[in-house]
Amino acid sequence: MPKFRFPTSSEVPSDFRMDPLHQRDYLLDGQILPWKGDVQEVLSPVCLPEDPFVLGSFPSMAPEHSLAAVEAADRAWNFGAGAWPTMRVADRIRCVEDLAQAMAARRQEVARLLMWEIGKTWPDSLKEFDRTLEYIRCTIDAVKELDRTSSRFLHQEGILAQVRRAPLGVTLCMGPFNYPLNETYTTLIPALIMGNPVVFKPSRPGSLLHRPLLEAFRDCFPAGVVNTVYGSGSKVVGPMMESGRISCLAFIGSSGAADRLKKLHPAPHRLRSCLGLGAKNPAIILADADLDLTVRECVLGSLSFNGQRCTALKILFVHRSIAAEFVERMAEAVNGLKAGMPWDEGVSITPLPETGKPQDLRAYVDEAIAAGASIANPGGGEIEGTFFRPAVVYPVAPSTRLYQEEQFGPVVPIVPFDDVAEPIRYLEESAFGQQASLFGRDPQVLAGLIDRLVNQVCRLNVNSQCQRGPDTFPFTGRKDSAEGTLSVSDALRVFSIRTLVAARDVTANKQILTDILRERRSSFLSTDFLF
Ligand code: G3H
Repeated sequence: MPKFRFPTSSEVPSDFRMDPLHQRDYLLDGQILPWKGDVQEVLSPVCLPEDPFVLGSFPSMAPEHSLAAVEAADRAWNFGAGAWPTMRVADRIRCVEDLAQAMAARRQEVARLLMWEIGKTWPDSLKEFDRTLEYIRCTIDAVKELDRTSSRFLHQEGILAQVRRAPLGVTLCMGPFNYPLNETYTTLIPALIMGNPVVFKPSRPGSLLHRPLLEAFRDCFPAGVVNTVYGSGSKVVGPMMESGRISCLAFIGSSGAADRLKKLHPAPHRLRSCLGLGAKNPAIILADADLDLTVRECVLGSLSFNGQRCTALKILFVHRSIAAEFVERMAEAVNGLKAGMPWDEGVSITPLPETGKPQDLRAYVDEAIAAGASIANPGGGEIEGTFFRPAVVYPVAPSTRLYQEEQFGPVVPIVPFDDVAEPIRYLEESAFGQQASLFGRDPQVLAGLIDRLVNQVCRLNVNSQCQRGPDTFPFTGRKDSAEGTLSVSDALRVFSIRTLVAARDVTANKQILTDILRERRSSFLSTDFLF
């Protein structure tokens, strides 16, 4: 296996070269304000530590700045009487459509920053951008659909009522570094379109790519509806939660961090949470599995974006009768993946953005080796700066961290089993409960496994890798893996609350309601509907 080689700056293809972006501003209360305080430097993972590429820098804020953002959002909320929460749905949709249009014009710029900031391949960076725009379009359609179904009156037990979904209040949105655009926007956009003012704190890494969109947020929404906060989460997020003015927390990260944040809220019962947390999705590979298909899906499932997906397959249980062949074929397939720079044609394995990640992964592998495992693919586990060559590790013992913890990187732990009760017990005892993949051919056996596991995880994938999409499907998890469900339509529910106007069905009330409707006196109470 040849040594991994980083390019010198002059070897970067001219199409992908970047001038550093030093962000010295932020969005507060409808204005892009200059930033004169501390900054945090961003080093791209796509280089060697001894030849760092400074991608740029962004504001490193203090608690007073994040509290100012909450205050601005709270003013835009204005006890629910602000322009945004009371705006007609059609007008809110128009604002979001304007945002989508402005975004589309910055596609290359945002995708390029995304690629340089987190090392995602160029095609996948573009895909993340396009998927996000598509998500916005689908959200707009789902809002129209929701509005159509809410535009009718109910008549029950002598009561007339109209039920709609109303916003909750100031929403704090924090996305993860691995899908810094998509996963942030899959909470930010539904929160906004339902009428909630937002404080938005981008991930680290994954901040700079949002800068090209700042003017669009300023121009498309009323003042205070979108406010940005940058810097260390431990410094700026805690005070916002302690203020008690956050009504809704959208957070993608670890369950420990989510618990700490929720506990800071002085009235946790007032806080609606939408959380995407850890996962350790297993594949269960039965003796009769189609090995060509299984290896293909397991390589994709374990190593797309270097295994840095919450939905990645993070442990593979294989029946002992086919384990040797499966491991050999996995090792061969993994070593067949092209490793290189994110702009290289056909590349799959790229440098890692998290500080110290290669060493952390190596520690997982070394502990597994000390407990009796080996690296099945020659060269697996080698480190070169920010690069970690994927390692297929077999057989992984239950006592090791690699068996129990979410490695979130390019390490593929494989565990043999004699009886399918073993992986079932693994799922039952696991702290995680997001998804699992089942590989096999016997419908009777698969049906038994499905029935046994549907109450352990929230999605079972038959002969296919785990994944979030399509985005119209519900995406959630049990136990420590999630709180709330995100799909295009579910997200609209997460960021709103059912609210109704009701009146006893008597002539006087009917006259009042008819007048309100006919004269279009209310934006809530209305039978107009959107096409
Ligand atoms: O990191 C978790 C992402 O939501 C995974 O999405 O399965 O489409 O890659 P994906």
